Amino acid sequence: MEFTLQVNGAQISVTAEAEEPLLDVLRRNGYTGPKRGCRSGSCGFCTVSIDGEVEKACLRPMETVAGSEVETISALGTQSDLHPVQEAFVDNSALQCGFCIPGMIMRTKGLLESNPDPDREEIREELSENLCRCTGYEKIIDAVEDAAARMPAEVADGGLPEPTTETEPISNE
Ligand code: FES
Ligand code: FES
Repeated sequence: MEFTLQVNGAQISVTAEAEEPLLDVLRRNGYTGPKRGCRSGSCGFCTVSIDGEVEKACLRPMETVAGSEVETISALGTQSDLHPVQEAFVDNSALQCGFCIPGMIMRTKGLLESNPDPDREEIREELSENLCRCTGYEKIIDAVEDAAARMPAEVADGGLPEPTTETEPISNE
C-alpha cells in the first residue's frame, strides 16, 4: 500500500504493509535516527513524535499514521547548531554508546514541552519508558534538568530552532 505522511517537515510517500511498524518504514527510507531495539515497546530506542505526542515507532502500524506529522531526532539540531536538549546531553556527558540517546532526547523534548520545570522524580518517571545500558541514568537526569534551564520559551512550546535537516548529530546507525 502507498502511505503519505510528513516526516521532519517534508511530505513523503512510502510503500508499506498496513501492519508494518512505522519504525521499520522510517529506517528503510533513510530516517535512521529512531533505533531498532526490542521492537516490542520495551526499550524506547525508537521514540519519535507523532502529531506532537511522544510515541514508540515500533508500536505504530503504518495504517495508524497515514497523514500524520512525524518528527525524529534529525529534526532537532545539526552538528554545528544543536538543539538545547542535545547541547545539555553533550555538556553533561549523558551518553556513552549513544544507542538510546535519540529516543531519550525525543522523550526529554516532549517532557519539557508539557512540563518546562520537572523535578528529578518527574524526570525519572518520564524516562522510565526509555532504557539505557551504559550511563546509570544519573547524568541523563542531570542533562534533562540542565536542558530545562536552557530551553527558550519558543522551543519549549514545541517550535524548532532551525529548519529541518536529516543530519544526525547524536545517533548511531
Ligand atoms: S524498539 Fe521500540 S520500544 Fe524498543
Ligand atoms: S548510552 Fe549506551 S544505551 Fe544509553
